[in-house]
Amino acid sequence: MIRGAPTGRLAPVNALRHLAGLVRRTLLGLAPGLARPDDTFALGWLEAREADVYRAMDARDRDHACRVARRLLARHPDAEPRTVRAALLHDVGKSERPYRVWERVLVHVWTPDPATAGRLPAGLRGAWRVHAEHAGLGAGRLRALGVDDRVVELVARHHEPPAGDEELRRLAAADEAT
Ligand SMILES: [Fe+2]
Ligand SMILES: [Fe+2]
Repeated sequence: MIRGAPTGRLAPVNALRHLAGLVRRTLLGLAPGLARPDDTFALGWLEAREADVYRAMDARDRDHACRVARRLLARHPDAEPRTVRAALLHDVGKSERPYRVWERVLVHVWTPDPATAGRLPAGLRGAWRVHAEHAGLGAGRLRALGVDDRVVELVARHHEPPAGDEELRRLAAADEAT
């Protein structure tokens, strides 16, 4: 499985939503001024050290994070607050190395096989690595800051099969549909 890619087969409706999200993220990659993150909503959920990390994220990543959290809450009003916080921070690993405009577009429409990625140009290798490994990178950063273990776990595993973890399943499904 390519890390950073949607997990498993998507239901038709989710697949359409995922495609719409892909188009939206591609357009935002080309026109970042279109990003409209609902920071007031996000900061109402996050604890102080989480809020600092969130504020440092690219506006396009904050926009996506807010959409995922809102979709999660629309589908599951009883979602655990830590799952909502994880939704708002799940892609924070992408802040480790900000994408150039063309890289942001490219990594969302094409992800190389890990076996061949080593042959990519140096700059593109970095962009792909962040795209492929952002879950672990983000979790490591949050862990180092002392963020709640459960939030860290959800961020670390948000592209993995949920294996009976209902809150992780909810988060992953909201992400895949956004
Ligand atoms: Fe992700
Ligand atoms: Fe995401």
